Amino acid sequence: MPKANPYENAAELPEGEVISPGDLFEQEHGEIELEIGPGRGWFTVERLEAAPESRILGFEIRRKSSSIVDDRLRRLGFSARARCMAEDARLALLRLTEASIHRVYIHFPDPWWKKRHHKRILAQPEVIAGITRVLVPGGELFVQSDVEDRIDAYEEVASADPGLEAWETDGPRVAENPYGARSPRERRAIEDGLPIYRLRYRKRR
Ligand SMILES: C[S@@+](CC[C@H](N)C(=O)[O-])C[C@H]1O[C@@H](n2cnc3c(N)ncnc32)[C@H](O)[C@@H]1O
Repeated sequence: MPKANPYENAAELPEGEVISPGDLFEQEHGEIELEIGPGRGWFTVERLEAAPESRILGFEIRRKSSSIVDDRLRRLGFSARARCMAEDARLALLRLTEASIHRVYIHFPDPWWKKRHHKRILAQPEVIAGITRVLVPGGELFVQSDVEDRIDAYEEVASADPGLEAWETDGPRVAENPYGARSPRERRAIEDGLPIYRLRYRKRR
């Protein structure tokens, strides 16, 4: 008999074509932030502590990671304002209501190095347009990585999106992560002394 998948019941977005992200949380107030690919999820935990009013949604394509993160959020007492769903962000973004998210984070994305997996890379015009659509006017997109080529690809696509503008007047590159929270890969890169490339955009008003 095939072995049962222990992560079969990982939380997913509810049925229905359009989902208002606010309906996913018990806490009814607070800006909503979205982390794409939280991995082990520690950015979300630290960010919940740094921004006590914010609500945070994660879309993690790996069911195991998503399930572990969602359970951990519950165990740490954050489940009223934080959830992680086993979703492919490329599809899940299309189901969220327009102008419903204040901040989108993509930390150290795209662990896809084989050519046949390149269609999974999120630095594509349709994916960035999906992010722009769900951001509130003035909302933020933040992307960081230690892989310069990947950040170059995000910069090219995001700078070409008519709905986005660089956060700083001199361009989208920023030196620091301003959110009071670090992702696991970011922490490791800092420990290893690797350079980190960061982009910050705002949705045009
Ligand atoms: C290299 S890991 C980085 C994890 C974490 N963000 C960090 O910085 O430590 C990239 C993560 O993105 C997830 N991911 C990749 N493509 C995704 C997609 N289309 N939707 C949701 N998650 C995705 C992967 O499963 C993985 O957990």
